Amino acid sequence: MKIIFYEHHAETLLWLNDLARALPEADVRQWQPGDTAPADYAVVWRAPAELFANRPDLKAVFNLGAGVDAILDVERKQPGTLPPNALLVRLEDSGMAHQMVEYATHTVLRYLRRLDEYDALQREHRWQKLPPYALKDFTVGVMGMGVLGARVAQTLAGFGMPVRGFSRTKRDIDGVQTFAGAGQFETFLDGTRVLINLLPHTPDTEGILNQRTFERLAPGAYLVNLARGGHLVDDDLLHAMQTGQIAAATLDVFHTEPLPDNHPFWRTPRITITPHISAETLREESIEQIAHKIMALTRGEPISGIVDVKRGY
Ligand code: NAP
Ligand code: GLV
Repeated sequence: MKIIFYEHHAETLLWLNDLARALPEADVRQWQPGDTAPADYAVVWRAPAELFANRPDLKAVFNLGAGVDAILDVERKQPGTLPPNALLVRLEDSGMAHQMVEYATHTVLRYLRRLDEYDALQREHRWQKLPPYALKDFTVGVMGMGVLGARVAQTLAGFGMPVRGFSRTKRDIDGVQTFAGAGQFETFLDGTRVLINLLPHTPDTEGILNQRTFERLAPGAYLVNLARGGHLVDDDLLHAMQTGQIAAATLDVFHTEPLPDNHPFWRTPRITITPHISAETLREESIEQIAHKIMALTRGEPISGIVDVKRGY
């Protein structure tokens, strides 16, 4: 079995070694431009179109992340790039869910307890108590009830605040009031105090964090974007923060990454920026999951995590 690996990352050698250890019978190699030698499987992150060209033998492409927007974007721009018979498989949790839970919980509690405002007061040496927010009014809405969103919503519900979840199809999640489909989106948003985005980036969800969405939220709401920069209309957020409709935002993902130095988000005091780290791809857990799936495929067994290319996630 031949496996090609591509990730423009400093740790390529570690990935190659660990993949080879997990699949001792496989011949694992780093894909380089010009490499057209046969391959059964590809393990990739943000691979160029050239990697996929003329590879009718490829049985599956394993995406080294939960989101497949980058790989599907290559296919959208150059239809026919992805080998038509190869499965596209994304990472499912593989250590990302607990990271998302930690990040989202920290952020919601920081806003609930007004710790971001106390940070600002401390910088001015001001000893000042702020009125506390009532837990029962601090409604959190999680967009995306998939592997990551459902775990985040369930964990937050455990803190006692009202939690809502939004997905494409109806989901039943303990302690979470769920809404499904575009027809229920506005009801989901109405009165939400903290909006957390964990949707995949698809043509349907592009720009979904926009002025119309913000207007439905409770005044002085908080935005937490953990999915993709393409979900957010940047100017609409800046405008909503100027009017006070959005009080503060925590953003982990951006249209252009790294976020350009001259982007106004850097200069907006109540925007917290992190460099796409809310849930990182963990090598050990990811390789274990991928190796397990490759072995299942070679035995002719079904696997989970196959992307519906038409649906976009
Ligand atoms: P997932 O399991 O595929 O879940 C996606 C969820 O979104 C599902 O509940 C799905 O609805 C819902 N959805 C999709 N399209 C929708 C639409 N048009 N309207 C309403 N709901 C829609 O994905 P995941 O593993 O939780 O990951 C979610 C995203 O997080 C990834 O795509 C990626 O962009 C992002 N992510 C970011 C980081 C980071 O470090 N910042 C790390 C990992 C992932 P159904 O349940 O009905 O299918
Ligand atoms: C990271 O952003 C991922 O999609 O896994």
